[in-house]
Amino acid sequence: MKTYQESITAKICSFVRAYHSAYAKHKIYDDSLAYDLLGQNEYLKIGKLIEHNFNEVEAKNDSNYYFDKEKIAPVVEQFLAPIPLSRLAFAKEKYEKFLSLHQHQTLQFIVLGAGLDTFSLTNDNHQVEVYEFDHPNSFRYKLGRIETLNLVMPKNLHFVPIDFEKQSLGALLKESAIKPTVPTFITFLGVAYYLELDTLRQTLATLSSFFKGELTLVFDYPDETTKTSPTNSRVTKLAKLTSQVGEHMVDGFSYQQIQTLLLDTHFNLDEHLTPLDIDERYFKENLTLKAYENVHFISATL
Ligand SMILES: C[S@@+](CC[C@H](N)C(=O)[O-])C[C@H]1O[C@@H](n2cnc3c(N)ncnc32)[C@H](O)[C@@H]1O
Repeated sequence: MKTYQESITAKICSFVRAYHSAYAKHKIYDDSLAYDLLGQNEYLKIGKLIEHNFNEVEAKNDSNYYFDKEKIAPVVEQFLAPIPLSRLAFAKEKYEKFLSLHQHQTLQFIVLGAGLDTFSLTNDNHQVEVYEFDHPNSFRYKLGRIETLNLVMPKNLHFVPIDFEKQSLGALLKESAIKPTVPTFITFLGVAYYLELDTLRQTLATLSSFFKGELTLVFDYPDETTKTSPTNSRVTKLAKLTSQVGEHMVDGFSYQQIQTLLLDTHFNLDEHLTPLDIDERYFKENLTLKAYENVHFISATL
C-alpha cells in the first residue's frame, strides 16, 4: 500500500457495496451505510476512476459531475463486485451462526483490515465489543467521514492502527482491551491478497496463541492459479488494476498450503468454499455476477 494515502481498494470495495445496494434487484449483501461512509465526492471519484480504466490522471481531468453508469456497470459486475459482496455474505452467515451459539453472552467482533466496513457502525448489540484493525492511513479517512457525518461513535467500538507487515499483532492485542477468554468472531477479508504466506501464518499463529476461548475466523484468499492465469483473464486484470493503484497482490496460496497453515496454527476448518461453491451459494440468482476463478473462502475455529 502507498505509504501516504488510505487504501484505494478499501474505497473500491465500499463503492461496490454502495452501488450494489442502490441498483441491484437481487441483493447479495445489502450495505445501507456504504454510500454515506464513503461519501459522495469519493463515490463520484471512484466511479470516474473505473470509467477511465483506473487511470488516475484521466479520471482527475474528467470534468463531468457524474460518471457514466452504463459504461462502468459491466466492469463493476464482472471485475469488482463478486469478491467483496460474496465474502461479506459468507461472513454474515458465519456470524449469525456464532451469535446463535452465544446468546446473551458478552462477545468480541474483530475486523482485521477493516477498511470502510460498516458492521461496527450498524451493530446494535451492546453485548458485542467491536475492534477494528487497519492501516493508520485508512483509519484517518474513516474517522474523518464519521466526523463529517456526525455519526455517534458507538461506545463499544475501538480502533487499533496497525501495519500487518511491520508491527506485531500480538503486542497490539496484548495492549488492547481485547480479552483472550471472551468468545470472539474475527473477519479478515480482502487482506490475504496483499500478504506473504509467512505474514498470514504469523497472523494466524498470533491469534491462536492469544485467544483462550472460542474463536471463529473468516477469511478469503487467492489460490495459486493467480500467477498462472492467462494475461487476458479477469484474475490477471484485477491484480494489474490493484497494482496500478499502489496495492500489489501476491501470487496466491494453494489450498494445501492453507490446510497446513490452519493445522500448524491449531485452527479447525469449519468450511472451505471453492469458486464453484461460491457460485452455487451466492450467484445462482444473479446471473450478471460470477465467482472469481481463484478466490476461496475459509471459516475456521479454535
Ligand atoms: C481490499 S481492502 C478490504 C477492506 C474491507 N475488509 C472490505 O472487505 O471492504 C484491504 C484492507 O486491508 C488493509 N491493509 C492492507 N495491507 C495492510 C497492512 N499491511 N497493514 C494494515 N492494513 C492493511 C487496507 O488498509 C484495507 O483497508
